[in-house]
Amino acid sequence: MEQYAIRGGNPLEGEVVIAGAKNAALGILAAAIMTDDEVVIENVPFVSDTRTLLKAIENIGATVRYIDRHTVSICGKGIAGDEELSVDDEYIRKIRASYYLIGALLGKYKYANVALPGGCDIGSRPIDLHIKGFEILGATVDIVSGGKVVAEAKQLVGSHIYLDTVSVGATINIMLAAALAEGKTTIENAAKEPHIVDVANFLNTMGANIKGAGTDVIRVRGVSRLHGAEYSIIPDQIEAGTFMVMAAATQGNVLVKNVIPKHMEAISSKLIEMGARVIEYDDSIRVMADGKLRPTQVKTLPYPGFPTDMQAQIAAVLCLAEGTSVVTESIFENRFRYVNELTRMGAKIRVEGNTAIITGVPKFTGANMSASDLRAGAALVIAALAAEGVSVIDDIKYVKRGYEDFDTKIRALGGDMEIVESERSLQKFKLKAV
Ligand code: UD1
Repeated sequence: MEQYAIRGGNPLEGEVVIAGAKNAALGILAAAIMTDDEVVIENVPFVSDTRTLLKAIENIGATVRYIDRHTVSICGKGIAGDEELSVDDEYIRKIRASYYLIGALLGKYKYANVALPGGCDIGSRPIDLHIKGFEILGATVDIVSGGKVVAEAKQLVGSHIYLDTVSVGATINIMLAAALAEGKTTIENAAKEPHIVDVANFLNTMGANIKGAGTDVIRVRGVSRLHGAEYSIIPDQIEAGTFMVMAAATQGNVLVKNVIPKHMEAISSKLIEMGARVIEYDDSIRVMADGKLRPTQVKTLPYPGFPTDMQAQIAAVLCLAEGTSVVTESIFENRFRYVNELTRMGAKIRVEGNTAIITGVPKFTGANMSASDLRAGAALVIAALAAEGVSVIDDIKYVKRGYEDFDTKIRALGGDMEIVESERSLQKFKLKAV
């Protein structure tokens, strides 16, 4: 079993190039099968979530070809859009974003049969809003035995959909189905995350007519078909944020390249409040920290608020700030599972409901820990890099779902980190002269 072995204490210094946005890629790769023409997508992050989705797409008959490590050609022509079509394989249940195949297939074939999504266990993550949206567009949706969603419609007809909760997944999924519906759909209280805009821009490049993405009212005028396109995915806001926080946690100086600074504002402003220096350039951000960080309050909110996917990472660095910080999680339950692990390193955190009260400690001490989900795993890596001594992190498969070459990028910044696969290689790492 692979583990991360990390010897903390080195300030991270240098430059890191951010990959394409995982969550945008998942929507875009699913949308790519909505045309029979070839679609070429660039800047696809090479992480296990995107590869899993591509395998699932290939398994239902699409042609998938990697042109290079980050460029994928997809042709959905070979998909049998009839009752034979069922998306259920060993891969698909592993990723939550498999639900985008429901919207994509329903839009194109008016029929979808997709295994219920898996993904990170961060509390109850229903898909009732997705289903409500499909039903308002005229589909019947059943959850059949074996945990599969079957959605079908004679015809999808544009309509008015109000989302009771701001949901990234439901907004994208409804946009996908509505792109090929008859007439006009209005999605109100839509999510505004950068990847919603990216998926909408991609669909528009394929010939869809979507306006208002990035605001809370999205208007989709259905078209009869979509065509081939070439498209490049935006940079990953969360990967960038993770490296920014890592620079602050290790008292480092890192230039985070290939970012859209506007997407980073919630994170940048928290780091500035904490006493880090943040310098924005056109498409990069430098983060420097020198001396004790200050505590702050963080509350996760839909975009443009502070992203829930950065909650664990910012909490890890707040553990080392001088004073008491409060982190409130308002999107998901069960997103404090990293707290016990950080406690092993010496963190002082008290969780009350959806709030974590963090009392800063002067230092972390290396420990053995386990990643409970993707972002929790990233938080443990940050803490381990800032700690005194060696840490070992298990279950790194979660981290690999969303961070491309995480260990390689961190090593290039001077972090002492390796993937070890046996007790022997771990011992070797521990005994290595520093
Ligand atoms: C997406 C992201 C995930 C991020 C999250 C919030 C992808 C693949 N994943 O997840 O990384 O943490 O946005 O930014 O893009 N909800 C319902 N009913 C639904 C759908 C959602 O009640 O049908 C609730 C959820 O339980 C949650 C909230 O809405 O409390 C927001 O969830 P949502 O935005 O849908 O998250 P995901 O799309 O699953």
